[in-house]
Amino acid sequence: MDSEAFVKDLDARNQELLRRLAPEATLEPEVEGDLSVVNLLKVALKNEIEATETAARWLVTTAEVDVKLALARQVGDEAKHYRLIADRLEELGFDARRFDPLAKGYGPLFQYLDTLTTTVERVAAGQFTREAIAIVKNRQFIEFCEAAGDAATARLYRETIEPDERHHHDLGRRLLLRYAGTLESQEAARRAARRTLELAEELQGVALRTAGIHHAPGC
Ligand SMILES: [Fe+2]
Ligand SMILES: [Fe+2]
Repeated sequence: MDSEAFVKDLDARNQELLRRLAPEATLEPEVEGDLSVVNLLKVALKNEIEATETAARWLVTTAEVDVKLALARQVGDEAKHYRLIADRLEELGFDARRFDPLAKGYGPLFQYLDTLTTTVERVAAGQFTREAIAIVKNRQFIEFCEAAGDAATARLYRETIEPDERHHHDLGRRLLLRYAGTLESQEAARRAARRTLELAEELQGVALRTAGIHHAPGC
């Protein structure tokens, strides 16, 4: 199929799997306990620093100039998100400056993305798919913040972070249209997208079982 038909098909497959990441029911924020805006923003810091670094690593090992520039923009955006979230955590009374989100190491999704070497896989996994996951998760997180009465965090996500993540997803779409023209590249892109979604689903399950955390924002 041509790249336009391919991207449409990949989007439909992704959306199908993304439905599994939607919550079963509206969840109640806990005043005491693990499920709080502060704890979810700490998870967000880890996501943002990992997204920054993935894009930065790829930037220097990608040949195509348009992809380099898309990755450079993403590095800047994800680093900006980190700073904004850290500032919000400070307002909420958490000392984010002393917090190292990588103290326990990089997560499985970061490690998987780091193994991808071709442009089409990187764009399919890291931008088109990871950022589609972020759009779903951030929508859930915004609802969570509103239910928790935290209008300022909800606004930060709705007005600044979410539009950037959407832009990253759209960059992925544009680059796939350009680079996923052959059967071989389409198969590689599809595999990378599927693995990214599988890992996101696994990670969500693990976070829920081990830390009681759900509704963590994406990146
Ligand atoms: Fe992003
Ligand atoms: Fe981000």
